[in-house]
Amino acid sequence: MKRTKIKHLLKGEEGEVLVKGWVRTRRDSKGGFSFLEINDGSCFANIQVVAEHTLAEYPAIESQLTTGSCVSVRGNLVASQGKGQSKEVLATEIQVYGPAPVETYPLQKKKHSFEFLREIAHLRPRTNTFGAVMRVRNRLAFAIHQFFQDKGFLYLNTPIVTTSDCEGAGEMFQVTTLDLSNPPSANGKIDYSQDFFGEKTSLTVSGQLEGEIYAMALSEIYTFGPTFRAENSNTSRHLAEFWMVEPEMAFYDLDDDMDLAEEFIKYLLSDVMEHCAEDMEFFNKRIDTTILETLKNITSSSFERLTYTDAIHQLQKSSETFTYPVEWGFALQAEHERYLTEKVFKKPIIVFNYPEQIKSFYMKLNEGGETVRAMDVLLPNLGEIIGGSQREENYDVLLQRMRDKDLDPEQYWWYLDLRKFGSAPHSGFGLGFERLVQFVTGMENIRDVIPFPRTPKHAKF
Ligand code: 4AD
Ligand code: MG
Repeated sequence: MKRTKIKHLLKGEEGEVLVKGWVRTRRDSKGGFSFLEINDGSCFANIQVVAEHTLAEYPAIESQLTTGSCVSVRGNLVASQGKGQSKEVLATEIQVYGPAPVETYPLQKKKHSFEFLREIAHLRPRTNTFGAVMRVRNRLAFAIHQFFQDKGFLYLNTPIVTTSDCEGAGEMFQVTTLDLSNPPSANGKIDYSQDFFGEKTSLTVSGQLEGEIYAMALSEIYTFGPTFRAENSNTSRHLAEFWMVEPEMAFYDLDDDMDLAEEFIKYLLSDVMEHCAEDMEFFNKRIDTTILETLKNITSSSFERLTYTDAIHQLQKSSETFTYPVEWGFALQAEHERYLTEKVFKKPIIVFNYPEQIKSFYMKLNEGGETVRAMDVLLPNLGEIIGGSQREENYDVLLQRMRDKDLDPEQYWWYLDLRKFGSAPHSGFGLGFERLVQFVTGMENIRDVIPFPRTPKHAKF
């Protein structure tokens, strides 16, 4: 007999079924039977199994039917007489695949903190919260592909090992096979010509530069892959390894870029409310009681767009005291972003036209040369979710900006070539996938929306 997943059982027809999963709880009744709540991850809900103590195998397995054990149950799916569930399985045969001794299995009924669960990352997917987070994460990944595929964007895989630093911030993890205790040297420096790739390589901080190459031939592409940043940021919004979605579009200017970003976010929020309704109900009840209302509001109103200069004015005229200085030319800090989204506009905002000196070399210089066509999408309670820009397509201007920012033009010759041969106006952005999952679920810490978080001093399983 074929196993049926619980998601389908709960919607399916009555009759004989085979169900497999992990016991969440067991309750014994005086009438000579036990109730087992079984979950297999296919949906939030458990299926209730009624096990009569008269089953032939029952005495032998009784002590093993505890929270955490894995079981296979053959039985009859019937309308439930009890409260709390519509259907249940009356077991005719139960097999225990793997017990989970009560004395040692850590996930007993007691509610555990997310911090504790991070220490047992191999068991935390068996909790309600992590099951729900991972189903939402899965759906969002699917919806991202759906959104771009429907628009005819090509899915592109960009390299993970790279020789370029896209964001120019020098926050890269080095990749090497050299013997670190005795590296080869030449002229007092490490001789990378003897390294695996014959030069110094790192893990990518962004697939954008390579994405631009393909947009300059295939018009519209998107990447969706792992990204690495060696920034020592121990916050609830930063990971050292995260997933980024980066669309890159020929013939888009900054307005088109902002339009796409807004449409994209609204699409994703609507999709997840429709397709993960049960999990979203859970988040709305247990994690953040305003999350559904927030998501609905965002899908039905437009994002506020304002220039960086206007944002600075808004901050300067407020009576709020900020830790970091509010002055034209300084980066907006999380406290400033939160003030603008939560107190001033009370909705998502897009800040654009940032000062040239605080943004990356590839962004298109505005007339006057003081600002660049950059944009950040900021969400209430989260802050920056998207960073993007129109790209500099003028060869001479780009070369000058590289020099100003101490980048070696020789190393980026291919990037400059794109401006030499068939250059075109183009734009793109990057969305942090974990920040999206975090925002949608209302989870406080980014470490709890990725299966295996990598953060400073933490890369264990
Ligand atoms: O603003 P960022 O640095 O932009 C870029 O990397 C551009 N090359 C993107 C592009 O235009 N194609 O990063 C983009 C987004 C941020 O807005 C944020 O959501 C996320 O990536 N992000 C992080 N997420 C988790 N942990 C980190 N350490 C992150 N750094 C950036
Ligand atoms: Mg950014």
